[in-house]
Amino acid sequence: MRNDTHFMSELFRIVNGALRLDIDKVRNYTAFLADKLEKSGDEVSALRLRRMLEENDLQLRPAGTTFEKTLPVDSESRFPLVERVNLKAISEPPVLLSQDQWDVLNEFLSVTRSHAQVDTTRVSTSLSLLMYGPPGTGKSRLARHISQELSLDLYIARLDGLISSFLGSTSKNIRALFDFASKTPCILFLDEFDAIAKLRGDGQELGELKRVVNSFIQNLDTLGTQSIVIAATNHHELLDSAIWRRFSYRLALDYPPADLRQKMWKQFVRPLEFTVREMALLTDLSEGFTGSDIQEVCLRLQRRWLTTNKTPSLKEALPILQNIAMGEGEDRRFLARLRGKDEHAIAAFLRERDAKLYSHSALADLLGVSKATAHRWVKGVKTDARRRPFATT
Ligand SMILES: Nc1ncnc2c1ncn2[C@@H]1O[C@H](COP(=O)(O)OP(=O)(O)O)[C@@H](O)[C@H]1O
Ligand SMILES: [Mg+2]
Repeated sequence: MRNDTHFMSELFRIVNGALRLDIDKVRNYTAFLADKLEKSGDEVSALRLRRMLEENDLQLRPAGTTFEKTLPVDSESRFPLVERVNLKAISEPPVLLSQDQWDVLNEFLSVTRSHAQVDTTRVSTSLSLLMYGPPGTGKSRLARHISQELSLDLYIARLDGLISSFLGSTSKNIRALFDFASKTPCILFLDEFDAIAKLRGDGQELGELKRVVNSFIQNLDTLGTQSIVIAATNHHELLDSAIWRRFSYRLALDYPPADLRQKMWKQFVRPLEFTVREMALLTDLSEGFTGSDIQEVCLRLQRRWLTTNKTPSLKEALPILQNIAMGEGEDRRFLARLRGKDEHAIAAFLRERDAKLYSHSALADLLGVSKATAHRWVKGVKTDARRRPFATT
């Protein structure tokens, strides 16, 4: 068993809850402490705490009902404002980020870990992380990752639902949400966070909006040290600068660069096996794709593999890639621009893009023609002496 001071922060919170007659807080932190004790090897104490919880729960609630955390609800509809993510039911491949992004994330994680040990009676600011970037770049995935890393339950609040009701109840809802987070050691994940800013565009009164924003900021500032708030948005430009500054950490997620895409292909494509050259081609062809797009292509390839029992050829992969390339953000995917073009034109375009990567034999594989044909198609194409930063090797 580890040093006892390791459990003091939970103890302080339980006593604090008891003195305020806040039964939910006492309960939630006792359950949290039991988990922590179990992890540290003290199963006997963990079991004893859990028994206490169960026995007392029966006295307070009708027989047959099990101990459930009381979720915050919308003040009009009474629908829950949060949803708990059951991470035990999910197993996922690792998160892939650039070094800069890891640096921000790791700092956030280590500060949060030491922060959780700070005694509640001392004044301390709360910790929060804002993640922003295009859809499919891994924001929700990261929230799950952080929850696992910190061993904290993850609760997702959908801001659009929270705000769709009357503005007056929005402030109430925000309070209920933070009230819940202060009694429950957890990660409060505010997805689609820009909904808070979009209000302004909806012709709502500016004063009302200000109230909502202020109420949010106040709640964020006073949350305390154990629970943390993570927000995600695809439209950070819509966020009020006052809110933007309030987050202690900000993490930009973006369309992954070539080296990251290559890792994503390796990770998601399994158990299919492509050669090194094929992987280099897939990496280049997926320029402008998100992690989610690459995963989608891989899923489709795997489905095909299941029926044919062999790794699909690049010629089979190309239309799938082209299909996924279309849609939001397609202006940054050169594949989207090749839509409807004939093979001849595609060969010429690729050759001009990178003559070394798109060799005659690579083009032959990709387009399903002979090397001689590929050769003929690209004859006379001007090739740029400048090499692309990403090489085949
Ligand atoms: N950087 C990444 N590392 C690992 N997987 C990723 C990454 N980006 C996206 N994915 C994959 O795509 C899926 C969808 O991404 P998601 O987290 O829902 O994106 P967002 O919330 O930003 O719209 C994830 O569950 C994950 O499998
Ligand atoms: Mg998401």
